[in-house]
Amino acid sequence: MLSLWQESVKNADLGSGAGAPVVASVSGAYLHLMPILGHGIDIVETNRLRKMVDDHGQHFLDRVFTPLEQQYCARNHKRYYEHLAGRFAAKEAVLKVLGTGWRGGIAWTDIEVRSQPSGQPVVYLSGECLRIATELGISRWHLSISHIETHATASAIGLRAADATS
Ligand SMILES: CC(C)(COP(=O)(O)OP(=O)(O)OC[C@H]1O[C@@H](n2cnc3c(N)ncnc32)[C@H](O)[C@@H]1OP(=O)(O)O)[C@@H](O)C(=O)NCCC(=O)NCCS
Repeated sequence: MLSLWQESVKNADLGSGAGAPVVASVSGAYLHLMPILGHGIDIVETNRLRKMVDDHGQHFLDRVFTPLEQQYCARNHKRYYEHLAGRFAAKEAVLKVLGTGWRGGIAWTDIEVRSQPSGQPVVYLSGECLRIATELGISRWHLSISHIETHATASAIGLRAADATS
């Protein structure tokens, strides 16, 4: 279900037509330039991830992280748990944007964090998460991750494509 604010953004008259009220026009231009539909942040203790891996091993890894994510994190042995925690924080941040939290029908692996050659993280959705994002009108993501030895944090922003009208 769309939040009131998301509903109002989705239904907003972009106000680009002649004769549109000035305020609506300014607000419409803002919406058109900044089609942000949601923002989520999360912070994770690195040790929490370490304990989950210690206790549940590969079963936990496979339930939460895609093969690509596992491969990426395993490349850096020293910061392995930091990379995992960063990806876990990213998944929770994306869930906050979707407004659902983790619940039935959603798999952690519906949210995949891929890394560009530059190291920049990118969100890829599938399954139920993709369905919810599509329903909200979100077609683009901005994701930022940061981690130190003890904690990882992530911020995710869901956007509507600038040229999308519905
Ligand atoms: C990209 C950079 C800013 C990351 O900052 P950092 O303090 O090293 O590390 P953080 O924990 O804050 O961030 C790490 C995360 O940044 C993200 N990241 C890496 N490169 C990125 C890039 N080019 N653009 C956006 N995000 C990036 C990744 O998600 C990474 O986590 P991951 O590898 O688990 O996916 C940093 O590596 C960098 O290039 N700094 C430029 C200055 C520099 O080179 N300093 C070193 C010599 S003084």
